[in-house]
Amino acid sequence: MSDHQILDIAHLQMKNYITKDDVVIDMTMGNGFDTLYLAGLSKFVYAFDIQETALEHTHKKLFDNQLSNYKLILDSHENILSYVKKFKYVVYNLGYLPNGDKHITTKKESTLSSLKTVLTHVDEKGMVFMMIYPAHEAGKIESLSIEQYLESIDHEQFKVIKTYLPFQEHMPPYLITIYKKGA
Ligand SMILES: C[S@@+](CC[C@H](N)C(=O)[O-])C[C@H]1O[C@@H](n2cnc3c(N)ncnc32)[C@H](O)[C@@H]1O
Repeated sequence: MSDHQILDIAHLQMKNYITKDDVVIDMTMGNGFDTLYLAGLSKFVYAFDIQETALEHTHKKLFDNQLSNYKLILDSHENILSYVKKFKYVVYNLGYLPNGDKHITTKKESTLSSLKTVLTHVDEKGMVFMMIYPAHEAGKIESLSIEQYLESIDHEQFKVIKTYLPFQEHMPPYLITIYKKGA
């Protein structure tokens, strides 16, 4: 395990479920580390970001690794249904790009709006993985609103699991996994 424990745990969970039959969504492409990982596991990845540089970095990574099972989309993840309607796994790695402009960060409104769409449309027995970073101001607001929203959803239909580091200081990142039950 590296120093990025929560990300490692999230990737292990993804690896446990995602197969070469699955369509997955990377809601926050960034530098493409998650998109690359997901392309290796799945049939096809749709990846979203609002920054052109994210698409450039991610395209290079996937091209260098000789992968072609992906579509990179320069748009907010709120508009997911304009591009793809059927998907089984969804990944959010929230916040801002490391070494990028810290003002261009995921925001409570668009994250929640997209999450509501995702939970309605994700396949039965599908999952949503959310890496959440509450240590910065926008991240704290975002994390509280995500948890408040998740408290209000139907817990018979959706199982919510929180994985966190209880003994670490300075509000470390944590993982929320949401599982949608089948009929
Ligand atoms: C922490 S980074 C993602 C890291 C990335 N998954 C990786 O492997 O490098 C968060 C990204 O979310 C993007 N973002 C912010 N708001 C967004 C939105 N509404 N739709 C899609 N992407 C967004 C930012 O531009 C930033 O690149």
